Amino acid sequence: MTENEIKKDNSYHIAASNICVIGAGFVGLVTASGLAQFGHKVVCVDTDKSKIDELTNGRVPFYEPDLQQLVRDNLNKKTISFSDNLADSVRGKDVVFIAVGTPSGVDGRAELSNIDSVCRELAEILSGKEILVLKSTVPLGTSERVKKIFEKAGKDAPPVVSCPEFLREARAVHDFFYPSRILIGGDNDDAKKKIAEIFLKGVNAAVPIVSTDNKTAELVKYAANAFLATKIGFVNELAGFCDLLGVNIKDVSKYIGMDPRIGTKFMEPGPGWGGSCFMKDLSELMGLAKTKDFSLLITNAVLKANEKQFELVYEKVCELLSNIKDKKIAVLGLAFKAETSDMRYSPAIPIINKLLQSGARVIAYDPKASEGAREFIPGIDLADDAYKTAESADCLLILTEWNEFRSLDLEKLAETMNSKNIVDARNLLDPALARKLGFKYIGMGQN
Ligand code: UGA
Repeated sequence: MTENEIKKDNSYHIAASNICVIGAGFVGLVTASGLAQFGHKVVCVDTDKSKIDELTNGRVPFYEPDLQQLVRDNLNKKTISFSDNLADSVRGKDVVFIAVGTPSGVDGRAELSNIDSVCRELAEILSGKEILVLKSTVPLGTSERVKKIFEKAGKDAPPVVSCPEFLREARAVHDFFYPSRILIGGDNDDAKKKIAEIFLKGVNAAVPIVSTDNKTAELVKYAANAFLATKIGFVNELAGFCDLLGVNIKDVSKYIGMDPRIGTKFMEPGPGWGGSCFMKDLSELMGLAKTKDFSLLITNAVLKANEKQFELVYEKVCELLSNIKDKKIAVLGLAFKAETSDMRYSPAIPIINKLLQSGARVIAYDPKASEGAREFIPGIDLADDAYKTAESADCLLILTEWNEFRSLDLEKLAETMNSKNIVDARNLLDPALARKLGFKYIGMGQN
């Protein structure tokens, strides 16, 4: 145990806390239902009345594996409830978690108006006994900013604990119950101990619960995402190089990953990383560096390399089709990764747009993201399944690593397509089998 680790003293029982979670988005809802599952009494509050009505009826308004069941279980146990009334929801609570959105503003910096307005309201209604926990991803210095909002309203600032989340979309429920670490940042030891106990009530005793100051906790969140994006950026670049060298990236990443300093996780090449978190957090980090006149050369390169990766996928399609104008491209996968309906900053958007601009016809299928796809790519044609998408297509382009695409019946595809071309941007298929069936196949760094 390091000196910054907080551990449960087995001699005492941790009582349930009364908790309010503000924000019923992805982070808020997972946090609220996870804490309820630990045995705490949780109210999750959001200004969106229709969302609250849906949640009260046990329906989660977006797709996240296992979340709806978790919400329903806790509604049945009455450990969670939902409300659109902030004042009622915070009354009598020990702890208030803030999990409202912090989207990128026009300048790329995190936009804090949701945090500001919630804190202004809280300054009017908190009793003075509550602990405030920042769960939203917030820039360096936000805990200080929150305290100042209270002071400006003539109130004593509550203890503010920075407790960033490291949940992955599509694995969020799993990640909540099996976290790699829980980071608790703040300057009030009693408040930090209380928040640690809230988690210790439910997580395995082996999970490190680490105490730090606010600024460190805030920076760790951004640094973690920047590092992960860098890791994928490196593997993507290496895969492109492997294409030229005739070496298989799967072997290279497996064998370099045997060194525990490198590791085997987060080593799959793809069409470029996407999702709102990496883009938003890297932009904020770049913006922060600019204010300090500091050059984040690596992070900058990671952003640029990712854009190049989208181009590379487009070029692979062009390589198979001598002229892509009027060719039909069947795209499998629109979400930024599998098991989510989320298309924010999905690589599919720039890649498909580039294909459309070049005069190709694009038809796409995604098991979960199709419904909202036109919001991101207006005018895109959609089909109901992989085989219908591939009908009379000149090229199949796989962009998301959905399991159902791993087991595609290639013979069936071969019969239905106009020309047998595959660009597999997630390395899901067996290149040898595809080629045996007469396909021209291009993967990512696997020949
Ligand atoms: C990321 C982090 O992984 C979480 O720890 C963090 O809490 C979250 O952001 C956040 O800040 O809220 P997420 O955006 O859900 O989670 O997605 P990841 O699983 O990290 O994947 C990001 C992108 O990298 C996806 O486009 C994915 O397809 C791509 N990726 C990932 C690869 O191309 N190869 C890999 O090996 C892994």
